[in-house]
Amino acid sequence: MQIPNMLESKKRGQSKVKIIKEEYIIDQNMKELGKGKKYHIKTYGCQMNIRDTETLRALLEEMSFTWVDDFKEADLILLNTCAIRENVHNKVFGMLGHVKHLKAIKPNVIVGLCGCMAQEEVVVNKILNKYKWMDFVIGTHNMHRLPIVLDEAITKQKLKVEVWSKEGDIIENVPVKRDSKYKAWVNIMYGCDKFCTYCIVPYTRGKQRSRRPEDIITEVKELVLDGYQEVTLLGQNVNAYGKDFVDLNYNMENLLEDVSKTGINRIRFVTSHPWDFTDGMIEVIKNNKNIMPYFHLPIQSGSDKVLKLMGRRYNREKYLELFNKIKEAIPESSITTDIIVGFPNESKEDFNDTLDIVNKCKFDGAYTFIYSKREGTPASKMEDNITIEEKEKRLQKLNELVNEYARLSNEKLLHKVVPVLIEGYSEKKSDMLMGYTDTFKLVNVKGNSKYIGHIVNVLITDTKSWSLNGEIVDDN
Ligand code: 5AD
Ligand code: SF4
Repeated sequence: MQIPNMLESKKRGQSKVKIIKEEYIIDQNMKELGKGKKYHIKTYGCQMNIRDTETLRALLEEMSFTWVDDFKEADLILLNTCAIRENVHNKVFGMLGHVKHLKAIKPNVIVGLCGCMAQEEVVVNKILNKYKWMDFVIGTHNMHRLPIVLDEAITKQKLKVEVWSKEGDIIENVPVKRDSKYKAWVNIMYGCDKFCTYCIVPYTRGKQRSRRPEDIITEVKELVLDGYQEVTLLGQNVNAYGKDFVDLNYNMENLLEDVSKTGINRIRFVTSHPWDFTDGMIEVIKNNKNIMPYFHLPIQSGSDKVLKLMGRRYNREKYLELFNKIKEAIPESSITTDIIVGFPNESKEDFNDTLDIVNKCKFDGAYTFIYSKREGTPASKMEDNITIEEKEKRLQKLNELVNEYARLSNEKLLHKVVPVLIEGYSEKKSDMLMGYTDTFKLVNVKGNSKYIGHIVNVLITDTKSWSLNGEIVDDN
Protein backbone atom coordinates (compact mmCIF):
# COMPACT_ATOMS: atom_id res chain seq x y z
CA MET A 1 0.00 0.00 0.00
CA GLN A 2 1.49 3.34 -1.06
CA ILE A 3 -0.67 6.32 -0.17
CA PRO A 4 -0.08 9.98 -1.14
CA ASN A 5 1.40 12.58 1.17
CA MET A 6 0.72 16.23 0.32
CA LEU A 7 3.74 17.55 2.28
CA GLU A 8 6.07 15.24 0.38
CA SER A 9 4.53 16.18 -2.95
CA LYS A 10 5.17 19.87 -2.26
CA LYS A 11 8.94 19.43 -1.95
CA ARG A 12 11.05 20.41 -4.94
CA GLY A 13 14.40 18.60 -4.91
CA GLN A 14 17.39 19.13 -7.18
CA SER A 15 17.46 15.48 -8.23
CA LYS A 16 17.98 15.05 -11.94
CA VAL A 17 15.02 13.71 -13.89
CA LYS A 18 15.85 10.50 -15.70
CA ILE A 19 14.54 9.87 -19.19
CA ILE A 20 13.67 6.24 -19.72
CA LYS A 21 13.77 5.32 -23.40
CA GLU A 22 13.68 1.55 -23.22
CA GLU A 23 10.96 -0.31 -25.01
CA TYR A 24 7.84 -0.52 -22.84
CA ILE A 25 7.07 -4.19 -22.32
CA ILE A 26 4.03 -5.71 -20.68
CA ASP A 27 4.61 -9.09 -19.01
CA GLN A 28 3.40 -11.93 -21.20
CA ASN A 29 1.08 -13.31 -18.48
CA MET A 30 -0.63 -9.92 -18.17
CA LYS A 31 -1.31 -9.67 -21.89
CA GLU A 32 -4.20 -12.11 -21.63
CA LEU A 33 -5.67 -10.63 -18.44
CA GLY A 34 -8.47 -8.82 -20.27
CA LYS A 35 -9.33 -11.52 -22.79
CA GLY A 36 -13.09 -11.49 -23.43
CA LYS A 37 -13.48 -8.53 -21.06
CA LYS A 38 -14.68 -4.99 -21.77
CA TYR A 39 -13.47 -1.74 -20.25
CA HIS A 40 -14.80 1.77 -19.89
CA ILE A 41 -12.88 4.89 -18.79
CA LYS A 42 -14.61 8.06 -17.60
CA THR A 43 -12.37 11.08 -18.02
CA TYR A 44 -12.79 14.28 -16.01
CA GLY A 45 -10.88 17.55 -16.30
CA CYS A 46 -8.28 19.02 -18.62
CA GLN A 47 -6.54 18.03 -21.85
CA MET A 48 -3.74 16.46 -19.81
CA ASN A 49 -6.21 13.90 -18.52
CA ILE A 50 -7.67 13.35 -21.97
CA ARG A 51 -4.14 12.59 -23.18
CA ASP A 52 -3.52 10.29 -20.19
CA THR A 53 -6.68 8.37 -21.04
CA GLU A 54 -5.22 7.73 -24.49
CA THR A 55 -2.31 5.99 -22.75
CA LEU A 56 -4.55 4.10 -20.31
CA ARG A 57 -6.60 2.84 -23.26
CA ALA A 58 -3.49 1.62 -25.06
CA LEU A 59 -2.28 -0.21 -21.94
CA LEU A 60 -5.63 -1.90 -21.38
CA GLU A 61 -5.92 -2.91 -25.02
CA GLU A 62 -2.42 -4.42 -24.89
CA MET A 63 -3.84 -6.49 -22.02
CA SER A 64 -6.63 -7.65 -24.40
CA PHE A 65 -9.46 -5.58 -22.91
CA THR A 66 -11.89 -4.07 -25.47
CA TRP A 67 -13.66 -0.71 -25.18
CA VAL A 68 -17.38 -0.41 -24.44
CA ASP A 69 -19.35 2.87 -24.55
CA ASP A 70 -21.76 2.00 -21.76
CA PHE A 71 -20.07 1.62 -18.37
CA LYS A 72 -22.86 -0.73 -17.24
CA GLU A 73 -21.64 -3.30 -19.74
CA ALA A 74 -18.01 -3.05 -18.68
CA ASP A 75 -15.98 -5.60 -16.73
CA LEU A 76 -13.46 -2.91 -15.82
CA ILE A 77 -14.43 0.68 -14.97
CA LEU A 78 -11.70 3.25 -14.51
CA LEU A 79 -12.32 6.85 -13.41
CA ASN A 80 -9.58 9.22 -14.58
CA THR A 81 -10.20 12.11 -12.22
CA CYS A 82 -9.52 15.81 -11.78
CA ALA A 83 -8.81 17.56 -8.47
CA ILE A 84 -8.96 21.19 -9.49
CA ARG A 85 -12.38 21.99 -8.01
CA GLU A 86 -14.65 20.39 -5.43
CA ASN A 87 -17.54 19.95 -7.89
CA VAL A 88 -15.55 17.37 -9.85
CA HIS A 89 -15.02 15.43 -6.59
CA ASN A 90 -18.76 15.40 -6.09
CA LYS A 91 -19.29 14.10 -9.63
CA VAL A 92 -16.67 11.37 -9.17
CA PHE A 93 -18.07 10.18 -5.84
CA GLY A 94 -21.58 10.34 -7.35
CA MET A 95 -20.37 8.12 -10.18
CA LEU A 96 -18.78 5.73 -7.67
CA GLY A 97 -22.24 5.48 -6.05
CA HIS A 98 -23.70 4.23 -9.37
CA VAL A 99 -20.78 1.88 -9.85
CA LYS A 100 -21.27 0.43 -6.36
CA HIS A 101 -24.83 -0.55 -7.27
CA LEU A 102 -23.54 -2.18 -10.43
CA LYS A 103 -20.92 -4.10 -8.47
CA ALA A 104 -23.62 -5.36 -6.13
CA ILE A 105 -25.26 -7.06 -9.15
CA LYS A 106 -22.01 -7.90 -10.99
CA PRO A 107 -19.43 -8.58 -8.23
CA ASN A 108 -16.67 -9.34 -10.71
CA VAL A 109 -16.60 -5.82 -12.12
CA ILE A 110 -13.18 -4.28 -11.44
CA VAL A 111 -13.31 -0.64 -10.34
CA GLY A 112 -10.31 1.69 -10.30
CA LEU A 113 -9.55 5.37 -9.79
CA CYS A 114 -6.60 7.30 -11.21
CA GLY A 115 -5.72 10.89 -12.14
CA CYS A 116 -5.26 13.92 -9.90
CA MET A 117 -7.76 12.91 -7.18
CA ALA A 118 -5.70 9.78 -6.58
CA GLN A 119 -2.84 12.05 -5.49
CA GLU A 120 -4.91 13.66 -2.74
CA GLU A 121 -4.50 12.34 0.78
CA VAL A 122 -8.10 13.20 1.72
CA VAL A 123 -9.47 11.27 -1.24
CA VAL A 124 -7.39 8.15 -0.68
CA ASN A 125 -8.25 8.14 3.06
CA LYS A 126 -11.93 8.42 2.19
CA ILE A 127 -11.61 5.49 -0.22
CA LEU A 128 -9.75 3.40 2.38
CA ASN A 129 -12.51 4.09 4.92
CA LYS A 130 -15.68 4.08 2.91
CA TYR A 131 -14.96 2.58 -0.51
CA LYS A 132 -13.14 -0.61 0.42
CA TRP A 133 -15.19 -2.42 -2.22
CA MET A 134 -13.12 -0.72 -4.93
CA ASP A 135 -10.28 -2.66 -6.54
CA PHE A 136 -7.45 -0.22 -7.14
CA VAL A 137 -6.18 3.36 -6.95
CA ILE A 138 -3.18 4.38 -9.05
CA GLY A 139 -1.48 7.80 -9.08
CA THR A 140 -0.45 10.16 -11.87
CA HIS A 141 3.29 9.47 -11.45
CA ASN A 142 3.05 5.69 -11.80
CA MET A 143 0.29 5.42 -14.40
CA HIS A 144 2.62 3.32 -16.57
CA ARG A 145 2.42 0.60 -13.90
CA LEU A 146 -1.28 0.02 -14.59
CA PRO A 147 -0.81 -3.58 -15.81
CA ILE A 148 1.09 -4.56 -12.63
CA VAL A 149 -1.36 -2.82 -10.28
CA LEU A 150 -4.35 -4.29 -12.09
CA ASP A 151 -2.86 -7.78 -12.08
CA GLU A 152 -2.29 -7.59 -8.34
CA ALA A 153 -5.76 -6.19 -7.62
CA ILE A 154 -7.34 -9.03 -9.61
CA THR A 155 -5.26 -11.87 -8.19
CA LYS A 156 -5.34 -10.70 -4.56
CA GLN A 157 -9.01 -9.58 -4.75
CA LYS A 158 -8.32 -6.76 -2.33
CA LEU A 159 -8.17 -2.97 -2.70
CA LYS A 160 -4.73 -2.09 -4.04
CA VAL A 161 -3.48 1.50 -3.62
CA GLU A 162 -0.26 2.52 -5.37
CA VAL A 163 0.27 6.28 -5.43
CA TRP A 164 3.72 7.84 -5.46
CA SER A 165 3.92 11.20 -3.69
CA LYS A 166 6.93 12.27 -5.68
CA GLU A 167 7.19 12.43 -9.43
CA GLY A 168 9.30 9.78 -11.07
CA ASP A 169 11.18 9.64 -14.34
CA ILE A 170 9.97 10.68 -17.76
CA ILE A 171 9.04 7.47 -19.50
CA GLU A 172 9.14 7.94 -23.24
CA ASN A 173 7.77 4.82 -24.80
CA VAL A 174 4.50 4.18 -23.01
CA PRO A 175 1.98 3.29 -25.74
CA VAL A 176 -0.84 5.59 -26.83
CA LYS A 177 -4.17 4.99 -28.55
CA ARG A 178 -5.13 8.37 -29.98
CA ASP A 179 -8.79 9.42 -30.12
CA SER A 180 -8.40 11.28 -33.40
CA LYS A 181 -6.67 10.51 -36.69
CA TYR A 182 -6.25 14.21 -37.49
CA LYS A 183 -5.33 16.08 -34.33
CA ALA A 184 -3.06 14.88 -31.58
CA TRP A 185 -2.14 15.91 -28.06
CA VAL A 186 1.61 16.01 -27.50
CA ASN A 187 2.92 16.32 -23.94
CA ILE A 188 5.91 18.62 -23.81
CA MET A 189 6.26 18.81 -20.05
CA TYR A 190 4.81 17.42 -16.86
CA GLY A 191 4.10 19.12 -13.53
CA CYS A 192 4.22 22.75 -12.45
CA ASP A 193 6.46 24.79 -10.16
CA LYS A 194 4.38 27.95 -10.03
CA PHE A 195 2.39 27.18 -6.86
CA CYS A 196 -0.42 29.68 -7.43
CA THR A 197 -1.95 29.73 -3.97
CA TYR A 198 -5.34 28.27 -4.94
CA CYS A 199 -4.08 25.51 -7.19
CA ILE A 200 -3.58 21.85 -6.37
CA VAL A 201 -1.81 20.92 -9.62
CA PRO A 202 1.78 21.38 -8.36
CA TYR A 203 0.96 18.78 -5.67
CA THR A 204 -0.89 16.28 -7.86
CA ARG A 205 1.40 16.51 -10.89
CA GLY A 206 4.76 17.12 -9.21
CA LYS A 207 7.67 19.30 -10.19
CA GLN A 208 8.15 20.63 -13.68
CA ARG A 209 9.85 18.11 -15.98
CA SER A 210 10.29 19.02 -19.64
CA ARG A 211 10.54 16.32 -22.28
CA ARG A 212 13.69 16.49 -24.39
CA PRO A 213 13.19 18.47 -27.61
CA GLU A 214 14.39 15.61 -29.83
CA ASP A 215 11.72 13.28 -28.40
CA ILE A 216 8.97 15.83 -29.02
CA ILE A 217 10.16 16.55 -32.56
CA THR A 218 10.38 12.84 -33.37
CA GLU A 219 6.83 12.35 -32.12
CA VAL A 220 5.51 15.23 -34.24
CA LYS A 221 7.40 14.02 -37.32
CA GLU A 222 5.79 10.59 -36.92
CA LEU A 223 2.38 12.23 -36.60
CA VAL A 224 3.00 14.12 -39.85
CA LEU A 225 3.87 10.84 -41.58
CA ASP A 226 0.67 9.31 -40.18
CA GLY A 227 -1.36 12.10 -41.81
CA TYR A 228 -2.08 14.22 -38.75
CA GLN A 229 -3.02 17.85 -39.47
CA GLU A 230 -2.75 19.38 -36.02
CA VAL A 231 -0.80 18.99 -32.78
CA THR A 232 -1.50 20.65 -29.46
CA LEU A 233 1.59 20.96 -27.29
CA LEU A 234 0.50 20.24 -23.74
CA GLY A 235 1.73 21.36 -20.36
CA GLN A 236 0.43 23.08 -17.21
CA ASN A 237 2.56 26.07 -18.04
CA VAL A 238 4.10 25.56 -21.49
CA ASN A 239 5.88 28.91 -21.57
CA ALA A 240 8.19 27.65 -18.85
CA TYR A 241 9.18 24.74 -21.09
CA GLY A 242 12.89 23.98 -20.84
CA LYS A 243 13.55 26.05 -17.73
CA ASP A 244 14.30 22.84 -15.85
CA PHE A 245 17.01 21.67 -18.27
CA VAL A 246 20.40 21.76 -16.56
CA ASP A 247 22.50 20.88 -19.59
CA LEU A 248 20.63 22.61 -22.37
CA ASN A 249 19.72 26.18 -23.23
CA TYR A 250 16.47 25.60 -25.04
CA ASN A 251 13.08 27.17 -24.40
CA MET A 252 9.48 27.35 -25.71
CA GLU A 253 10.53 29.78 -28.43
CA ASN A 254 13.05 27.26 -29.76
CA LEU A 255 10.57 24.41 -29.48
CA LEU A 256 7.85 26.26 -31.39
CA GLU A 257 10.32 27.08 -34.14
CA ASP A 258 11.50 23.46 -34.40
CA VAL A 259 7.99 21.97 -34.27
CA SER A 260 7.00 24.44 -36.99
CA LYS A 261 9.77 23.06 -39.23
CA THR A 262 8.35 19.51 -39.06
CA GLY A 263 5.76 20.61 -41.61
CA ILE A 264 2.70 19.82 -39.48
CA ASN A 265 -0.14 22.02 -40.73
CA ARG A 266 -1.35 23.34 -37.40
CA ILE A 267 0.34 23.86 -34.04
CA ARG A 268 -1.46 24.88 -30.86
CA PHE A 269 -0.21 25.03 -27.29
CA VAL A 270 -1.87 25.15 -23.86
CA THR A 271 -1.70 26.48 -21.18
CA SER A 272 0.26 29.70 -21.01
CA HIS A 273 1.13 31.57 -17.86
CA PRO A 274 1.49 35.32 -18.56
CA TRP A 275 4.64 35.41 -16.41
CA ASP A 276 6.75 33.32 -18.76
CA PHE A 277 5.47 34.67 -22.08
CA THR A 278 8.40 36.14 -24.01
CA ASP A 279 8.56 38.62 -26.89
CA GLY A 280 10.54 35.99 -28.77
CA MET A 281 7.60 33.60 -28.58
CA ILE A 282 5.29 36.22 -30.06
CA GLU A 283 7.75 36.75 -32.92
CA VAL A 284 8.01 33.02 -33.66
CA ILE A 285 4.22 32.65 -33.65
CA LYS A 286 3.85 35.65 -35.93
CA ASN A 287 6.47 34.43 -38.38
CA ASN A 288 5.38 30.81 -38.71
CA LYS A 289 2.05 30.38 -40.40
CA ASN A 290 1.52 26.87 -39.09
CA ILE A 291 1.51 28.13 -35.49
CA MET A 292 -2.13 29.06 -34.89
CA PRO A 293 -2.99 32.65 -33.90
CA TYR A 294 -4.75 31.51 -30.74
CA PHE A 295 -3.68 32.21 -27.17
CA HIS A 296 -5.18 30.87 -23.97
CA LEU A 297 -3.84 33.31 -21.44
CA PRO A 298 -5.42 32.87 -17.98
CA ILE A 299 -5.72 36.15 -16.08
CA GLN A 300 -7.61 34.74 -13.03
CA SER A 301 -8.48 38.20 -11.64
CA GLY A 302 -8.35 41.85 -12.66
CA SER A 303 -7.50 43.07 -9.16
CA ASP A 304 -3.87 43.64 -8.20
CA LYS A 305 -4.68 42.80 -4.59
CA VAL A 306 -6.26 39.45 -5.51
CA LEU A 307 -3.53 38.62 -8.05
CA LYS A 308 -1.00 39.10 -5.28
CA LEU A 309 -2.97 36.88 -2.90
CA MET A 310 -3.14 34.29 -5.68
CA GLY A 311 0.64 34.41 -6.11
CA ARG A 312 0.34 35.05 -9.83
CA ARG A 313 3.53 37.19 -10.13
CA TYR A 314 2.02 39.82 -12.46
CA ASN A 315 -0.36 42.72 -12.03
CA ARG A 316 -3.11 44.00 -14.30
CA GLU A 317 -0.80 46.48 -15.96
CA LYS A 318 1.70 43.76 -16.90
CA TYR A 319 -1.10 41.53 -18.18
CA LEU A 320 -2.51 44.33 -20.32
CA GLU A 321 0.95 45.11 -21.65
CA LEU A 322 1.37 41.50 -22.81
CA PHE A 323 -2.17 41.33 -24.15
CA ASN A 324 -1.67 44.48 -26.23
CA LYS A 325 1.72 43.31 -27.46
CA ILE A 326 0.17 40.10 -28.80
CA LYS A 327 -2.73 41.95 -30.43
CA GLU A 328 -0.39 44.49 -32.03
CA ALA A 329 1.90 41.81 -33.42
CA ILE A 330 -0.89 39.44 -34.54
CA PRO A 331 -4.08 41.52 -34.89
CA GLU A 332 -6.22 38.65 -36.21
CA SER A 333 -5.37 36.44 -33.22
CA SER A 334 -7.93 35.36 -30.67
CA ILE A 335 -7.26 35.37 -26.95
CA THR A 336 -9.22 33.45 -24.33
CA THR A 337 -8.74 33.38 -20.59
CA ASP A 338 -9.61 31.76 -17.24
CA ILE A 339 -11.13 33.77 -14.40
CA ILE A 340 -11.83 32.81 -10.79
CA VAL A 341 -14.46 34.74 -8.80
CA GLY A 342 -14.92 34.76 -5.04
CA PHE A 343 -11.27 34.22 -4.09
CA PRO A 344 -10.83 34.85 -0.31
CA ASN A 345 -11.04 38.58 0.45
CA GLU A 346 -12.21 39.53 -3.05
CA SER A 347 -14.17 42.73 -2.37
CA LYS A 348 -16.83 44.24 -4.64
CA GLU A 349 -14.17 46.69 -5.88
CA ASP A 350 -11.81 43.81 -6.67
CA PHE A 351 -14.56 42.09 -8.62
CA ASN A 352 -15.28 45.35 -10.46
CA ASP A 353 -11.60 45.43 -11.44
CA THR A 354 -12.12 42.00 -13.01
CA LEU A 355 -15.14 43.26 -14.96
CA ASP A 356 -13.10 46.28 -15.98
CA ILE A 357 -10.26 44.22 -17.40
CA VAL A 358 -12.75 42.05 -19.30
CA ASN A 359 -14.14 45.28 -20.77
CA LYS A 360 -10.63 46.31 -21.77
CA CYS A 361 -9.52 43.00 -23.26
CA LYS A 362 -12.85 41.97 -24.82
CA PHE A 363 -11.78 38.33 -24.69
CA ASP A 364 -12.88 35.96 -27.44
CA GLY A 365 -13.97 33.62 -24.68
CA ALA A 366 -13.38 32.84 -21.02
CA TYR A 367 -13.69 29.87 -18.71
CA THR A 368 -15.07 31.22 -15.47
CA PHE A 369 -15.05 29.50 -12.09
CA ILE A 370 -16.14 30.04 -8.53
CA TYR A 371 -13.15 29.70 -6.22
CA SER A 372 -12.97 26.23 -4.71
CA LYS A 373 -10.95 25.63 -1.56
CA ARG A 374 -8.38 22.88 -2.11
CA GLU A 375 -7.04 21.07 0.95
CA GLY A 376 -3.27 21.56 1.40
CA THR A 377 -2.91 24.71 -0.74
CA PRO A 378 -1.85 28.06 0.82
CA ALA A 379 -5.21 29.67 -0.05
CA SER A 380 -7.04 27.00 1.95
CA LYS A 381 -5.67 28.70 5.07
CA MET A 382 -7.20 32.03 4.05
CA GLU A 383 -10.70 32.62 5.32
CA ASP A 384 -13.20 31.76 2.57
CA ASN A 385 -15.23 34.81 3.55
CA ILE A 386 -17.64 35.37 0.67
CA THR A 387 -21.08 33.78 0.74
CA ILE A 388 -21.96 31.29 -1.96
CA GLU A 389 -24.89 33.50 -3.01
CA GLU A 390 -22.51 36.41 -3.57
CA LYS A 391 -20.06 34.20 -5.48
CA GLU A 392 -22.86 32.97 -7.71
CA LYS A 393 -24.08 36.52 -8.31
CA ARG A 394 -20.58 37.58 -9.33
CA LEU A 395 -20.17 34.57 -11.60
CA GLN A 396 -23.45 35.29 -13.36
CA LYS A 397 -22.58 38.94 -13.88
CA LEU A 398 -19.17 38.00 -15.22
CA ASN A 399 -20.63 35.35 -17.52
CA GLU A 400 -23.08 37.82 -19.03
CA LEU A 401 -20.20 40.13 -19.91
CA VAL A 402 -17.95 37.35 -21.17
CA ASN A 403 -20.75 35.95 -23.36
CA GLU A 404 -21.42 39.34 -24.86
CA TYR A 405 -17.79 39.76 -25.92
CA ALA A 406 -17.67 36.19 -27.23
CA ARG A 407 -20.75 36.95 -29.33
CA LEU A 408 -19.25 40.21 -30.63
CA SER A 409 -15.95 38.55 -31.50
CA ASN A 410 -17.78 35.82 -33.44
CA GLU A 411 -19.93 38.42 -35.19
CA LYS A 412 -16.79 39.93 -36.71
CA LEU A 413 -16.38 36.74 -38.73
CA LEU A 414 -19.78 36.98 -40.40
CA HIS A 415 -19.46 36.77 -44.24
CA LYS A 416 -15.72 36.12 -43.92
CA VAL A 417 -13.94 33.05 -45.27
CA VAL A 418 -11.89 31.19 -42.66
CA PRO A 419 -9.82 27.97 -42.65
CA VAL A 420 -11.41 25.11 -40.70
CA LEU A 421 -10.03 21.67 -39.89
CA ILE A 422 -13.05 19.40 -40.24
CA GLU A 423 -12.89 16.88 -37.40
CA GLY A 424 -16.05 14.83 -37.88
CA TYR A 425 -19.80 14.91 -37.54
CA SER A 426 -21.38 17.35 -35.09
CA GLU A 427 -22.52 15.74 -31.82
CA LYS A 428 -25.74 17.73 -31.78
CA LYS A 429 -26.79 17.45 -35.43
CA SER A 430 -25.70 14.24 -37.07
CA ASP A 431 -26.02 15.63 -40.64
CA MET A 432 -23.60 18.49 -39.92
CA LEU A 433 -19.82 18.48 -39.82
CA MET A 434 -17.82 20.31 -37.18
CA GLY A 435 -14.35 21.72 -36.88
CA TYR A 436 -12.28 24.60 -35.58
CA THR A 437 -10.94 27.74 -37.21
CA ASP A 438 -7.27 28.69 -36.90
CA THR A 439 -8.40 30.99 -34.07
CA PHE A 440 -10.06 28.05 -32.29
CA LYS A 441 -13.67 28.89 -32.95
CA LEU A 442 -16.12 26.05 -33.31
CA VAL A 443 -17.81 25.90 -36.73
CA ASN A 444 -20.71 23.73 -37.91
CA VAL A 445 -20.97 23.18 -41.67
CA LYS A 446 -23.02 21.12 -44.10
CA GLY A 447 -21.01 18.61 -46.07
CA ASN A 448 -20.20 14.97 -46.52
CA SER A 449 -17.58 12.76 -44.97
CA LYS A 450 -15.00 13.41 -47.70
CA TYR A 451 -14.08 16.64 -45.91
CA ILE A 452 -13.28 14.98 -42.57
CA GLY A 453 -9.61 15.36 -41.73
CA HIS A 454 -9.09 18.21 -44.20
CA ILE A 455 -8.53 21.92 -43.74
CA VAL A 456 -11.15 23.66 -45.89
CA ASN A 457 -12.19 27.27 -46.49
CA VAL A 458 -15.54 28.06 -44.92
CA LEU A 459 -17.77 31.07 -45.50
CA ILE A 460 -19.34 32.08 -42.18
CA THR A 461 -23.09 32.52 -42.65
CA ASP A 462 -24.34 32.82 -39.07
CA THR A 463 -22.77 33.53 -35.69
CA LYS A 464 -23.71 32.75 -32.07
CA SER A 465 -21.91 33.30 -28.76
CA TRP A 466 -20.11 29.96 -28.72
CA SER A 467 -20.21 28.71 -32.31
CA LEU A 468 -20.40 29.68 -35.98
CA ASN A 469 -22.31 28.23 -38.92
CA GLY A 470 -20.84 28.19 -42.39
CA GLU A 471 -20.59 26.71 -45.87
CA ILE A 472 -17.56 25.06 -47.38
CA VAL A 473 -16.34 27.14 -50.29
CA ASP A 474 -13.36 25.05 -51.35
CA ASP A 475 -10.78 22.53 -50.24
CA ASN A 476 -7.70 24.36 -49.06
N1 5AD B 1 -10.84 27.08 -7.65
C1 5AD B 1 -11.42 27.53 -8.79
N2 5AD B 1 -10.81 27.51 -9.98
C2 5AD B 1 -9.57 27.00 -10.04
N3 5AD B 1 -8.70 26.85 -11.06
C3 5AD B 1 -7.57 26.27 -10.60
N4 5AD B 1 -7.68 26.06 -9.28
C4 5AD B 1 -8.91 26.51 -8.89
C5 5AD B 1 -9.59 26.56 -7.66
N5 5AD B 1 -9.04 26.13 -6.53
C6 5AD B 1 -9.00 27.31 -12.43
C7 5AD B 1 -7.99 28.36 -12.89
C8 5AD B 1 -7.15 27.59 -13.88
C9 5AD B 1 -8.16 26.63 -14.44
C10 5AD B 1 -7.57 25.45 -15.13
O1 5AD B 1 -8.91 26.21 -13.32
O2 5AD B 1 -8.69 29.40 -13.53
O3 5AD B 1 -6.58 28.42 -14.88
FE1 SF4 C 1 -1.97 25.82 -11.16
FE2 SF4 C 1 -0.74 28.20 -11.40
FE3 SF4 C 1 0.55 25.91 -12.16
FE4 SF4 C 1 -1.53 26.85 -13.60
S1 SF4 C 1 0.45 27.90 -13.29
S2 SF4 C 1 -1.18 24.70 -12.96
S3 SF4 C 1 -2.87 27.73 -12.03
S4 SF4 C 1 -0.08 26.46 -10.08
